[in-house]
Amino acid sequence: MVVLTGSGVSAESGVPTFRDAQSGIWERFRPEDLATPQAFRRDPKTVWEWYEWRRTLVREAKPNPGHTAIAQLEQIVPRLTLITQNVDGLHQRAGSHAPLEFHGNILGNRCFAEHRRLTDDELSPGTPPSCTHCGSMVRPDVVWFGEEIDKTILDAALNACAKCDFFLSVGTSAQVQPAAGLAELALSCDAVVAELNTDDTPLSPVAHFCLRGPSGVLLPNLVLELKKD
Ligand code: OAD
Repeated sequence: MVVLTGSGVSAESGVPTFRDAQSGIWERFRPEDLATPQAFRRDPKTVWEWYEWRRTLVREAKPNPGHTAIAQLEQIVPRLTLITQNVDGLHQRAGSHAPLEFHGNILGNRCFAEHRRLTDDELSPGTPPSCTHCGSMVRPDVVWFGEEIDKTILDAALNACAKCDFFLSVGTSAQVQPAAGLAELALSCDAVVAELNTDDTPLSPVAHFCLRGPSGVLLPNLVLELKKD
């Protein structure tokens, strides 16, 4: 089984989805205009402050019953690969082991010049901080628009999707590649594909099953049903 999650699975934890309007002072920005290497070069202070705002949100957020249900699924099905587009780390906090974090993790930091992951004691203070090894700006350890997915993570995800019997897409608008292509890969390899989402998406017409509703309600019900077997 493969479970692919998007920001909809964290919505009930109070983490805004990507295509919801930005709140507060960030209303005048679009994520697409902040989450890019060009934006960071142009205005590193504003981009860093936006991520610091999102990090505060994420740290205050708690996993919701949808995250917990996915962690429970790992104990029920023989093999489960969790692929998440989310960078909030809530799956791990709910008990999921080693999710494939397609777009990285917002709580991590990387050297902008050398791409090396940095621990907190490798940051020199600043907005943004600088790398203690080379002096370059420090960036969040997330995949920005136009950047590649980590090859190891992408290969593991493609391999799981090509072999799975059942693919469950949860809380994603299925618009951003290559994540959006994973369901089609599973379909082409004869997997049963189900979508759990509050709204229709480009995946809806080709999925075998579409469950409409909040993941924090439907996923626990799914786990309850599976436990009856
Ligand atoms: P979106 O905001 O595009 O889509 C979230 C989906 O979740 C929508 O289709 C909503 O209908 C649905 N949804 C909202 N609340 C829900 C709930 N409580 N239960 C179930 N579904 C719910 O977010 P993503 O699809 O995750 O990429 O966006 C994918 C990528 O686009 C993000 O990872 C980000 C963005 O560009 C990068 O940052 C590289």
